[in-house]
Amino acid sequence: MHKNVLITGGAGFIGSHLVHHFVRAYPQYQIINYDALTYAGNLENLSEVESAPNYRFVKGDVLDRELLQQVFKEHDITHVIHLAAESHVDRSIHDPLQFITTNVLGTVTLLQVARESWKSPEDHCFYHISTDEVFGSLGEEGFFTETTPYDPRSPYSASKASSDHFVRAFHHTYGLPVMVSNCSNNYGPYQFPEKLIPLMIRNIQLERPLPVYGDGTNVRDWLWVGDHIEAIDEIFHRGRIGETYNIGGHHEMRNIDLVRMLCLIMDELLDREPGTSAKLITYVKDRPGHDARYAIDPLKLMTELGWKPRVHPKEGLRRTAAWYLDNQDWLERVTSGAYQAYYERHYGG
Ligand code: NAD
Ligand code: TYD
Repeated sequence: MHKNVLITGGAGFIGSHLVHHFVRAYPQYQIINYDALTYAGNLENLSEVESAPNYRFVKGDVLDRELLQQVFKEHDITHVIHLAAESHVDRSIHDPLQFITTNVLGTVTLLQVARESWKSPEDHCFYHISTDEVFGSLGEEGFFTETTPYDPRSPYSASKASSDHFVRAFHHTYGLPVMVSNCSNNYGPYQFPEKLIPLMIRNIQLERPLPVYGDGTNVRDWLWVGDHIEAIDEIFHRGRIGETYNIGGHHEMRNIDLVRMLCLIMDELLDREPGTSAKLITYVKDRPGHDARYAIDPLKLMTELGWKPRVHPKEGLRRTAAWYLDNQDWLERVTSGAYQAYYERHYGG
């Protein structure tokens, strides 16, 4: 069936992988990438698909209701996959209002436009991409399931939780056809080097200190970005309207263990003596309110839609490290300009 799919945030990390995949795998769909190109959005990520006949880019803010209305009308948008967001917890601690603006008001603006534009729920879907961080923090045992009560604890997760609630509220109140997925930490190429893995890769290469927050025992459940894209594809095509799906690969790691593993991989890739990079590990002041552990139970997605993760972190981290080493120009460009100014303002260096 033909679909006109609006992907918001398609110039960001996960969004650019999703746009690549949809443009190539579904030539019968029209893919409209709507992105404001903040510090985290980079059209260079999409150079391989920019001239594809089924791809269009629109520079726009999810808060711009008029432009969204125009885009929905002009492209007869039938489906939305909403990724546009402010996505970094540390930034949310410094500037929570920006997160409410983009993640909450932006999502509600987009929901409103979809609701006004779609005359009936038939053949439409608003698919909202969210995070496992909305569930809060786990102790040593247990997993987040789709029915775990929300307990967000950072401004970022509070803003994503709020946006999830609005998406479901539009379903229950107005009958808007929606789906939500909550995914664990992603990693892979094109991730902005403020997040743990690309930041560590870059610092190892530059022989800078590797800042591990607190005692490094916080646990994250890491998922190769390509596995997330496959899950989104399954849910988009075969998920049930009104449902939520948790996405994660049961790849839990303590931050310090992950950083040590990356150090060994980088030593090998950079031809350094094993143990050289690990000497750069530096314990720094903990993140305020640092969530102890995230871990997803993906059973529903696996049993209902047959999804399973393919890439183990050992392999995925190696691929990621090699990609960053091979794409120095990309790294230099995204770490200059707006990002650098922000970084200096907030982190002083
Ligand atoms: P990202 O920060 O790399 O990209 C965000 C994109 O959104 C950028 O291209 C940016 O330009 C765009 N954007 C920001 N504000 C906008 C606005 N007002 N209007 C239009 N576009 C705007 O983020 P990401 O890591 O790719 O995450 C994408 C989505 O997936 C987010 O909603 C995030 O909450 C969710 N998510 C991320 C992870 C993860 O590990 N990265 C895990 C689970 C869920
Ligand atoms: P991050 O990549 O920011 O993702 P999130 O906070 O959304 O999980 O951080 C992943 C983990 O790594 C988190 O526990 C915080 C920690 N961390 C560090 O120890 N040092 C760093 O420099 C960064 C950016 C994160």
